[in-house]
Amino acid sequence: MRKVENHMLIIFGASGDLTARKLLPALFDLYIGKHLCENFVVLGTSRSDLSDQEFRKKVVTNSKYLREKLSDHDENYIQSFANRIFYTKIGKDYDTDYGKLKERITKLDKKHGTEKNFMFYLSTPPNIYETIAMHLAEKGLANESQGWKRIIVEKPFGYSYETAKRLNTGLQKYFNETQIYRIDHYLGKETVQNLLITRFANSIFEPLWNRNYIHHVEITNAETVGVEKRGGYYDKSGALRDMFQNHLLQIVSLVVMEPPIDDKAEEIRNEKVKALKSLRIMRDEETLYKNTIRGQYLASDIMGEKVPGYREEEGVEPESTTETYAALKFYIDNWRWKDVPFYVRTAKRMPTKVTEIVIHFKSPHHHIFSESGVIDKDNKLIIRIQPDEGILIKFGVKVPGQGFMVERANLEFYYSDLADQKLMSAYERLLLDAMQGDPTLYARADEVEAAWEFVDPILAFWKNGKDVKTYGYSSGVWGPQNADELFEGHYSWRNPGEALADDPGFCEIN
Ligand code: BG6
Repeated sequence: MRKVENHMLIIFGASGDLTARKLLPALFDLYIGKHLCENFVVLGTSRSDLSDQEFRKKVVTNSKYLREKLSDHDENYIQSFANRIFYTKIGKDYDTDYGKLKERITKLDKKHGTEKNFMFYLSTPPNIYETIAMHLAEKGLANESQGWKRIIVEKPFGYSYETAKRLNTGLQKYFNETQIYRIDHYLGKETVQNLLITRFANSIFEPLWNRNYIHHVEITNAETVGVEKRGGYYDKSGALRDMFQNHLLQIVSLVVMEPPIDDKAEEIRNEKVKALKSLRIMRDEETLYKNTIRGQYLASDIMGEKVPGYREEEGVEPESTTETYAALKFYIDNWRWKDVPFYVRTAKRMPTKVTEIVIHFKSPHHHIFSESGVIDKDNKLIIRIQPDEGILIKFGVKVPGQGFMVERANLEFYYSDLADQKLMSAYERLLLDAMQGDPTLYARADEVEAAWEFVDPILAFWKNGKDVKTYGYSSGVWGPQNADELFEGHYSWRNPGEALADDPGFCEIN
């Protein structure tokens, strides 16, 4: 593991929700876990007028997001964490003279010995990333002749291929690609990282991981919540941009990629880019019509609670056709995956919150037990990303007694069984990696662009295509029924339950 060198974390947009909700709790956990460097300073900046004391109160001592964690520690311990946190107002907007900010950074650096190592975290809208990068560079704050300089940016990385490219080029004018860390919190999830271990540290899976043995791959990402208070943002985005282009395609790339030469960041990222570039881009209307489905949730009563339809949510256009459900079928054009369909869906207001990958294996090539009921019950490897994190293998066993009747059995592994290991939260893990200068779990510019190249034609078709429909589904069920029509043969979506080993079902009433 690399050492965390003394440094300063400078957060732009520091008075916003993300800083209090995600970043400070992650930093506090790193503090408890003794992962922070000896000389560590946080400097928040934004347009709000706050003193150091007010900022400390807002994001630490009075923060509702830290209340529970703080209750386990004494005041001195908490205060010595809070004392490392400072604040400077940037000005009326972010396009201003950064002289005052630089002065504060320089003073803090001298006083606290952060050795001119600076990590800038942009928790601001992406349309000002380039402006911030430009002002930092103008003040010499991107220059690595003394101390390292890194910049972390939050999603969305663009709105389309063109805008993503512009965003990347904009940042790369002032920072080298090796200094840029694009955060995707799914890559910070332990279970997503475990995909690499499952595949490349086990000789029982890798030989089967190809078109010869895999019939199809299914990925479900479901949330029970609706758009909540983010209607304004979401209505311009939709499920495909919000979840699929980034988090789900990152998961797809880890399932699809070839084995890297070793575990170095660039080797892994090179293979992920290759995987994303192998996605068969759907271009003609017929293919897009047949292989993509979008839906939107309708008002419903879920277990006695009335929930509004998407169009009634705050910030959403009353006639919006933005998708809260997206399901796609697509292929990968390479040797390993030729003709293996991938079915991927993401949605809000589903019956349960779950993300899982299901590898469906082909049934045996020659059926000896043809009367046994084993046909059509393929072996499955289910990798549960969240919740009830774990791995489940479904395989056939003989029913005791005469003859050869076959029944499905489960082999399960649960992360919770590794109870003595504290699992880091996604932000905790990713911040620590960036502090150590390890970009493995951050998205590189070419990965982001390759993902947009696949998504762009689907978005264009949904916007302008002929006969494109947005199907309604009642909140609390597994989306529009015709989403099953994407599947070939007798297959359909596995609608998972809350627990890994639950048998699937269409909806839950309890
Ligand atoms: C975010 C999306 O990136 O991920 C949200 O913008 C979504 O719409 C969230 O709710 C889901 O994250 P998780 O970790 O709860 O699955």
